[in-house]
Amino acid sequence: MKIQIINGPNLNLLGVREKSIYGDSDFATYFESLKVRFPEHELSYYQSNKEGELIDKLHEVGFDLDGIVLNAAAYTHTSIAIADAIAAIKTPVIEVHISNVHKREEFRHKSMIAANCKGVIAGFGLDSYRLAIEHLIG
Ligand code: DQA
Repeated sequence: MKIQIINGPNLNLLGVREKSIYGDSDFATYFESLKVRFPEHELSYYQSNKEGELIDKLHEVGFDLDGIVLNAAAYTHTSIAIADAIAAIKTPVIEVHISNVHKREEFRHKSMIAANCKGVIAGFGLDSYRLAIEHLIG
């Protein structure tokens, strides 16, 4: 299976930013461990801090891949444009969050994109991504 992980703004700073919330591993290291864990699947990783670039990536991969694991980060709570992009593409998208957004500030409780996603996984640290992949590969 071909699976694309897409990370949104500030997730390039994993391992540096707010470690008590997001942990101390950077995503590149974690991504290597995912590739070792799922050798029979083709995993790709993309990160951008820019809303339009995230949308371009969804358009690029959203018609022929098997699944997308999307952590839209703060855009989750604001972006109708990303929600529309998810609705426009064919590949199923799973929304993931490292932290349990429902335990945090109220503005993080609302997801603009969740209704257009297959499901939502939040609160399991970086393991949220593995759980999403496990679902996609069945
Ligand atoms: C996050 C949660 C968002 O509210 C926040 O803006 C992020 C990361 C998470 O993975 O827990 O940047 O998506």
